[in-house]
Amino acid sequence: MPRTLSVIKADIGGFVGHSAMHPEVEELGRERLRDAVESGMLIDAQAHSCGDDLFLIMSHDHGQDAEVVHHFAWDLFVAGTEVAKKLHLYGAGQDLLVDAFSGNIKGAGPGSAELEYEERPSEPVIVFMADKTSAGAFNLPFYKMFADPFNTAGLVIAEPLHSGFSFEVHDVKEHKKIVLNCPEEIYDLLVFIGSPARYAIKRVVNRATGEIASVSSTDKLSLIAGRYVGKDDPAAIVRCQGAFPAVGEVLEPFTTAWIVEGFMRGSHYGPLMPVSLGDAHPARFDGPPRLVALGFQIADGKLIGPRDMFDDPSFNNVRQEANDVADQLRKHGPFEPHRLPLDEMEYTTMPAVAAKMSDRWAEM
Ligand code: F6R
Ligand code: MG
Ligand code: MG
Repeated sequence: MPRTLSVIKADIGGFVGHSAMHPEVEELGRERLRDAVESGMLIDAQAHSCGDDLFLIMSHDHGQDAEVVHHFAWDLFVAGTEVAKKLHLYGAGQDLLVDAFSGNIKGAGPGSAELEYEERPSEPVIVFMADKTSAGAFNLPFYKMFADPFNTAGLVIAEPLHSGFSFEVHDVKEHKKIVLNCPEEIYDLLVFIGSPARYAIKRVVNRATGEIASVSSTDKLSLIAGRYVGKDDPAAIVRCQGAFPAVGEVLEPFTTAWIVEGFMRGSHYGPLMPVSLGDAHPARFDGPPRLVALGFQIADGKLIGPRDMFDDPSFNNVRQEANDVADQLRKHGPFEPHRLPLDEMEYTTMPAVAAKMSDRWAEM
């Protein structure tokens, strides 16, 4: 019977501003998860935070999209919002976009990445948690992990990876999906995923075995709400070793400070900085965007870990690079390409300013 690893996450209130999560909210999450494990609903579970987002990592046998798991997560976020309100935390309940839960957390605000898998005798996985960025932020790193032989040596020299991977890509605006097979459709794939504001990689599958290699949350908050409500701050799960990239091949894409959207007010590009849990508290210009990687061995559904994978001096150079890129981009102030293009910005005064100035524009 397949087992499921669900990561469901939400920003239910920041401490201070949008920079981090208050320990009391995180503790409430841990208590509720402990109760759910004791009751037998979950096999095992952990709560962690990256910036102002709470990530629930839940191992269970209910399958993906299970109402019992989604409802539990929703109730936990509602209870956490009460704590956030009591402490007057910033933006309490900001990602809870509907008044009441109605069967599935998708479309209700929180993000979800759920992996259904047959547990291998040894099952290493990495759970990625991001803050201050959007759903497509994993496109480039996933491409490198699963399709770029200069990143993943196994694509060239390891038999179980040599047939390549297929990518399920979601058009987050039109709500459509497509599967593209690599390596032969790499150029077609890149036409789509090179535009991460519209196309996001949802799932990657090993073509030889049919096993799911990775899943990510592609929920776009602004499209769900029809207006800006916060950043997507996505999650992803990646299986490692054997028929999948090795742990080191999964982490290698993050040795470059990729430029992603989500810096200040969700309206600026900034470098994605891989950090340890202890440094996952974006403060400078509400950023730079952060990424945490938690490694687990799954043993009969139990989460053995985490290992804080970016807590490693070999990522010091990329952190320095991210700071240098942030310095350079910040010098542009309100100019593109630091500021997002007009129709992508989460905040804008353009309609009001355009209306105010409308009779001052003259034909020329
Ligand atoms: C939040 C974020 C922040 C906020 C900014 C303004 O995820 O990206 O940069 O957008 O702090 O927040 P408000 O409008 O709530 O004052
Ligand atoms: Mg926030
Ligand atoms: Mg956040």
